[in-house]
Parts: sequence; C-alpha cells; structure tokens
Amino acid sequence: MTLTTTAAALDVKLAQRTARIAVLGLGYVGTPLAVHLARSGFAVTGFDPQARKVDEINAGRSPVQDVAHTDVAELLGLDTLRATSRGADLAGHDVYILCVPTPLDESKQPDMKYIERAASLVAEHVRPGTLVVLESTTYPGTTDEMLVPMLAQGGLIPDEDLFVAFSPERVDPGNAKFNTGNIPKLVGGIGPRSTELATALYRAFLPSVHPVSSARVAEMAKLHENTFRAVNIGYANELAMICQALGVNVWEVVDAAATKPFGFMPFYPGPGIGGHCIPLDPHYLAWRARKEGFATRFIDLADQVNSGMPRYIVGRLMNVLNARAKALRGSHVLVLGVTYKPDVDDARESPAMDVIRELERHGAQVRYVDPYVEELPHHHGPHLQAVRAELDDETCAWTDVAVILTHHSCFDFNALSLRVPQIFDTRGAARHAPGAVELL
Ligand SMILES: NC(=O)c1ccc[n+]([C@@H]2O[C@H](COP(=O)([O-])OP(=O)(O)OC[C@H]3O[C@@H](n4cnc5c(N)ncnc54)[C@H](O)[C@@H]3O)[C@@H](O)[C@H]2O)c1
Repeated sequence: MTLTTTAAALDVKLAQRTARIAVLGLGYVGTPLAVHLARSGFAVTGFDPQARKVDEINAGRSPVQDVAHTDVAELLGLDTLRATSRGADLAGHDVYILCVPTPLDESKQPDMKYIERAASLVAEHVRPGTLVVLESTTYPGTTDEMLVPMLAQGGLIPDEDLFVAFSPERVDPGNAKFNTGNIPKLVGGIGPRSTELATALYRAFLPSVHPVSSARVAEMAKLHENTFRAVNIGYANELAMICQALGVNVWEVVDAAATKPFGFMPFYPGPGIGGHCIPLDPHYLAWRARKEGFATRFIDLADQVNSGMPRYIVGRLMNVLNARAKALRGSHVLVLGVTYKPDVDDARESPAMDVIRELERHGAQVRYVDPYVEELPHHHGPHLQAVRAELDDETCAWTDVAVILTHHSCFDFNALSLRVPQIFDTRGAARHAPGAVELL
C-alpha cells in the first residue's frame, strides 16, 4: 500500500511533530491525552463546551486528578497547549481526536449525541489530509457507519484524502502504575492508510502501539476487555453469596486460588460495579448484538448479579445489626468511602449511592466519610440525606455499624475497628482488623 500525497504529507508532519492536533473533550481521557501530546512536542488545542474546564486549563490548572496542575502550567508556558470552547478555534488542525462521553440513555441504550455533536463540529473543518481518531468507547461499527459518513459529506474520499481511525482509551484513573503514557494503544483504521497514519500518530508519543486490521476490531476489543471484567466481577459476587451460605471466607478463597500461576486471574466481590466504563460498556455490546438477533446471556446475567449487590449488602447489614438485637430502621450507619473505587475523587456512577439510597429507604440514618467527596453527586431517584462526617470521636460514638464500601488507602481499618462497635466490610479490606468485623 502506498500513501497518497495528502497521507504522505501528514505522515511527515507526524514524524516531525509539526502536526496541529485538536483534542475534543477535556475529561478523564482527553486531558491526559492532550498533556501527553503537548509534552511530546505537538501543538495541541483542547476543546470542551464546559467553560469551567477550559478556564481551568488556560489558568494553568488541571481539571482531572490524574494530571498535575504543574504539568498543565508548564505546557501553557511553552505555548504547546491551550484550551477553547469556541468551535471556530478548531479550524486549521491536522488531527482531531474525539474523547467525548458515551453514556447510556434511560433505557440503557447507547447515547450517541456527544459523538454526533463532536463529529459535526469536526466535519466543518476537515480538509484533504486530515486524520480523525475516535477514542470514546462505543459499539462496533460506529466509526465506519456513523463517523465516516458525517465527516465525508463534503466530498472527501475515506482513506484516500480523509483518514479515520478508532483507538480506544484504556486509562484507569487512579492507577499508580499504568497511565495514558504507558498503556499499550490499540489502533484500527477504516482502511490501511488510516491505520498507518493513526499508528504513526500514537507512536510519536507512546512506547507501545498495536495496530489491528479494522476500526471494528479495535471497537470490539475495547468492549471485550470491559465486558470480561463485568462478567467476572458478577461471578465473584455470586461466589461471595455462595461462600456466605456455606460459611466460607470468600476473600481467603480468592487469594488461595490466585496462588495458581496459570489459568486463573483473581476478581473480587464488592458492593456492585461503578465508574464510567464497566457498568456501561457491556450494554453497548449487548445493544449491538441484539440488533443481530443475539441474546447476550452472560452480559445480562452479570448485570443482574452486579446491580443486585447494593440490595444484597443492605440485607446482610440488616443481619449484622439483628445479631446485635438492632433493627436497621433508626440505626446509625457510617459509610466509609463513596467513590467507585479507591483513591479516586469520582463518586458518579458509584454503587455507594445505591447502597445509601437502600439504607435510607429502610429508615437508617446515614453519614459518610470520604476524603475525596465533599458532597454526594446528584443521582437518579430521591435526594440522598446522608451527610458528610469526619472520622472523629463524635462520629465513632454515633455509629452503630460502619460499612466499608470503598477502601481508600488512607483509611486505617485496624484502628477504626476498635473505635466503632461493628464493621461490615464489603471489600475484604479489614479482614485482619482486631475489632468486630463481618465480611461480605
Ligand atoms: N474515565 C475513564 O476511566 C475512561 C477510560 C477509558 C475510556 N473511557 C471512555 O472515554 C470517553 C470519555 O470519557 P471521560 O471519562 O473522559 O468523560 P468525561 O465526562 O470525564 O469527559 C468528557 C468531556 O467531553 C466534553 N464534551 C461533551 N460534549 C462535547 C463535544 N461535543 N465536543 C467536545 N467535548 C465535549 C464534556 O464536557 C467533558 O468534559 C467515554 O467514551 C468513556 O467511556 C473513559
């Protein structure tokens, strides 16, 4: 395959890092990406309709926890990064990377409006030799069937003078070892030239890039990764319930099985799944599979088990209180950790909200302790009453039972187990604490 003249020109700009790059969506995915690109020498424009994020970046501050303010400030000083909310500022770029949300709508179907809006903005600016990459997680076929027709409506020929690829983001916010800069990157283009150019783009600033034969393969691989997690967590949750019925410690079971050096990978139970990816992405796959007439039984079952966990947790908590001759109604429940996973500041899409709602529905009085969350995010359903508390003597004296939902590393469960009458631990984090601890 030979590169067309326009493709060859972009290839040179990518190699020389003179290509101008626009990143659309300055969230958990787009901000680190924009910073990595700018740090490697590209001139980067970050675009986001939220003025708050744009203003923050232009003031030298990072809108996300995983990127340091100093990194943003330094790149602004070097004039390699700037942010905007003005569509007109997107003109004149060689590469557009879309990192916009892909949520579910009320009926748990893909909500494509953010990709549509971003694509129609970019469509106004594409010209011969432009590369557009979609990083948002989505169903297989989005790039070919939805993005390309929108971008090519001005007459550009896909993979001849308009290059389009899908490259899923696999970032894991809060992960100290793996980040945007060192996670292997999958790239699949709509044709060989698109794949080659998108691969060249990512190789310019990442150590490991894995091209695949099509955008669909890359789209499907991303959904496979996260559906694999959702299904296995569903099984771990079911295992926890079986272990409880059999009087076996599930945490010890999983750790014991994990000593097998091959053919086993540990997954842990918990109060449910959260975050922007694991609870959502399997629905993208299921929705697309259903359009082909497939029943996605593993996916549906995992969803059923995982989304039933908050209710199961509250049922177990009732038993824990019952053993102390207390009813949940009127009891003081201290929730420890409300983010969707440890050491992150994001409580949206956290199963803790469902647990708190269920507790309050049963008449419990709830306080929560979380160093990362000042206020509970707005969630579907009735307003949550739970108030934020400090882990002080007054709170410990108030508590009838403390439930660990998110095991932030700053929590000292050993000490805490001696300050409250009872802990119910849904994360296996207080397994070895000296006080009264009931495990999931
Ligand atoms: N957060 C993660 O851990 C993670 C990991 C891997 C993949 N993903 C996927 O990456 C995508 C982005 O996720 P995120 O976590 O960064 O979301 P986010 O909500 O943190 O950020 C998305 C940003 O896009 C902006 N936006 C909305 N409409 C826009 C438009 N038309 N043009 C430009 N910007 C627009 C929003 O204002 C927001 O700032 C999603 O598809 C998500 O599934 C997320």
